[in-house]
Amino acid sequence: MRPAGILIVFFIVLTGNEIPIFSQAQTVNQDHLFIKVKPSSSPFSTALETLQTQIGYKFQNIGLLRRAMTHSSFSEENNKALGIFGKTLISTSVSLQCLNKNIDMPGKDLNARISEISNVESSCAVDAMRLELEKVVRVSPKTNSSVPTVVCGAFRAIFGAIAVDSGKSDVAGDVFVRVHGGHIGEALAM
Ligand SMILES: *[C@@H]1O[C@H](CO)[C@@H](O)[C@H](O)[C@H]1NC(C)=O
Repeated sequence: MRPAGILIVFFIVLTGNEIPIFSQAQTVNQDHLFIKVKPSSSPFSTALETLQTQIGYKFQNIGLLRRAMTHSSFSEENNKALGIFGKTLISTSVSLQCLNKNIDMPGKDLNARISEISNVESSCAVDAMRLELEKVVRVSPKTNSSVPTVVCGAFRAIFGAIAVDSGKSDVAGDVFVRVHGGHIGEALAM
């Protein structure tokens, strides 16, 4: 038999696929048992909502987009690995687009196309600035969020985050094609 004082009753109601959790706890030390839900109206949260609208992808786990928008200067939990994954996803997406259009594309042309689209200054950072990621990505006070490597890393991390969130590389590739726009699969103008 347990003392009645420590009987705990939890009612957890999950609604939709959002986070809202309603909990009710009754015990002597009930303060410790309430689940503290952070207000979702911080500027960072609002920016993440806007970003999802811009890219046309709604995250099941918003924590992944939060991480993608976190530079390594800001915290241990950062976008480094997602950025590495994202770069690979972008190369894969470009390769697929190119070879779907022209299976006879010479290897050196495909390599050139991949290099072009992977270029930090002329491609990646340009896409990132168009999404205004420099205003979203969290960095340490000493770090300039507008430098190409920082915004580019955040941009690539978006696609890594989408692949992890959806469990599908193709979903990330499709979002990249939409966000990058232009003529990914066309022959290089050289
Ligand atoms: C931050 O970086 C951008 C891009 O490199 C540069 O134009 C800007 O002057 C830098 N800002 C500061 C405060 O250093």
